[in-house]
Amino acid sequence: MISVVVSGAAGRMGQAVCEAVEGAEDMELVGRADPALGVELASVLGDADVVVDFTTPETAVANASACLEAGVHAVVGTTGFDTEELRAAAEGASGEARCFVAPNFAIGAVLLMEVSQRIAAHMPECEIVELHHDKKLDAPSGTARRTAELIEAAGGNVHEPIHSVRLSGLVAHQEVIFGGEGQTLSVRHDSIDRRSFMPGVLLAVRRVGELPERFTVGLENLL
Ligand SMILES: NC(=O)c1ccc[n+]([C@@H]2O[C@H](COP(=O)([O-])OP(=O)(O)OC[C@H]3O[C@@H](n4cnc5c(N)ncnc54)[C@H](O)[C@@H]3O)[C@@H](O)[C@H]2O)c1
Repeated sequence: MISVVVSGAAGRMGQAVCEAVEGAEDMELVGRADPALGVELASVLGDADVVVDFTTPETAVANASACLEAGVHAVVGTTGFDTEELRAAAEGASGEARCFVAPNFAIGAVLLMEVSQRIAAHMPECEIVELHHDKKLDAPSGTARRTAELIEAAGGNVHEPIHSVRLSGLVAHQEVIFGGEGQTLSVRHDSIDRRSFMPGVLLAVRRVGELPERFTVGLENLL
């Protein structure tokens, strides 16, 4: 059994993760950390093999660093913080605990990023439109920034700015529009329910301890 603590357990994603962990036969939910529940991460960390963090951009790096220093693997889904800051913390931490970060745990979004890289090699000019619910704190989304990085690495040219739409009714959506002579090609992914992220989160919980590097970004590395 893998002992799991969820950090941000009272939040929209945290609640969905708690439910998914409770439903997994090989996992046990041993703690729900969240200031909204009056439970500090530090007070439940010791019971965990893996902590899953879906909190805020301001707290994610400190939370993950505390896990790694305690020898607990960290799976981070929070977005909007500086990934390089967390990389430095993970690589500098004592012990052997692993840190895995994914800006998007939905398989469809990972496939959108992959196919976008292939398209960019032939149709480099593109724009990204990301659409999320109106409570989302960061813009552009972590997924959009990661998609842009991958497209640029594949030779594409992502026009600025990335377009961010925030509206009630939306969950998490992204479209990449490529333009060529006399043609466009659009690729779109829609997470219409937070359950879309759960298979990816559970996969990361199962695999984080086996990762060869101390710090890994992107669900594509686990597929
Ligand atoms: N990687 C993905 O696939 C993915 C998918 C959806 C959302 N997200 C990201 O996940 C994060 C959370 O999103 P949400 O919609 O659940 O937000 P939310 O506001 O509903 O929940 C965040 C929770 O974190 C708690 N929190 C704040 N500080 C904390 C701390 N120090 N320790 C523990 N808990 C703390 C808050 O009280 C709140 O309950 C955001 O950054 C969002 O962009 C990522």
